[in-house]
Amino acid sequence: MSVNFDYIAPYYSLGEKLCFGEKLNFHRTLFPQVLRSSGKILLLGEGRGKFLEFLLKENNSCEVVVIESSKRMAESIYNLIPCGDRFRVEIKNIPIEYFNSDHKFDLICSFFFWDCFSKNQIKRSIPLMLNLINNKGYWHNADFVDHRKITCYHTLKNFIFIRILYFFFRHTTGLDVKSVFPVRSLILKSNMRLIQSLESNSKLLKSDLFRKIEEY
Ligand SMILES: C[S@@+](CC[C@H](N)C(=O)[O-])C[C@H]1O[C@@H](n2cnc3c(N)ncnc32)[C@H](O)[C@@H]1O
Repeated sequence: MSVNFDYIAPYYSLGEKLCFGEKLNFHRTLFPQVLRSSGKILLLGEGRGKFLEFLLKENNSCEVVVIESSKRMAESIYNLIPCGDRFRVEIKNIPIEYFNSDHKFDLICSFFFWDCFSKNQIKRSIPLMLNLINNKGYWHNADFVDHRKITCYHTLKNFIFIRILYFFFRHTTGLDVKSVFPVRSLILKSNMRLIQSLESNSKLLKSDLFRKIEEY
C-alpha cells in the first residue's frame, strides 16, 4: 500500500474549505438521528478528525473506533478529541486491510474514502467491513459520483473535476487510482438495504444510508 496522506495532512481541511465550502460536511452530517442512536461506531479513513469531533458532541455515550492509515492524520484526530472523551475513542493507525475486530458495530461511516481504492481492493475490503455490522446496524457512505456517461453540463464538469482531483492526489499522496468505483451495488449484494439516499444538485456528491437486515 503506497498511498500516504501525511504530506497533505496539514493543508487538508483548508483545501476542502476552498474547494467545497460546507458541501462535504453537509453529506457527512446528513443522518444525525443515526449518529445519536448508535452505541458502537466505526470510522473508516477519518482524515483530520473534524467529523469525529462533531460525532462526539452529538452522541455523548458512543464508543468509536477510527481506522486511519496516515500518521499525521491520526495525530490530528487525537489532538481534536477532548480529554474527557479520549477513553471512548480508539484510533488505529493502520490501513483498513489490516483491521479486524471481535466487536460488531451499530454504524460504519465512510466519507470520501473509497475513491482511494481500486475496484479489486474494494471487492476485498467491503465484505470484511460488512461482517463487522450488527443486525439492524447502519452504514453511511458518502462519495463523489464519477458518472460513466456524460449526459449534461454537470456530468461533464464533474468528470473533468474528478480527473483534476486524481491528478492532484497522484502527485501528493502516490494514489494510483483513476476512477471512483460505485460501491453501492457491491454493498447491496449483501444483506444490506438502501434506506435513504441523496445526490447533490450538482450531481457530484452522493450519500447512501444502508441498514442490515436482521439475521436469524
Ligand atoms: C480522501 S481522504 C477522506 C478523509 C475524510 N474521510 C473526509 O471525509 O474528508 C481519505 C482518508 O483515508 C485515509 N486512507 C487512505 N487509504 C487508507 C487505508 N487503506 N486505510 C485506512 N485509511 C486510509 C487517508 O489517509 C485519508 O485520511
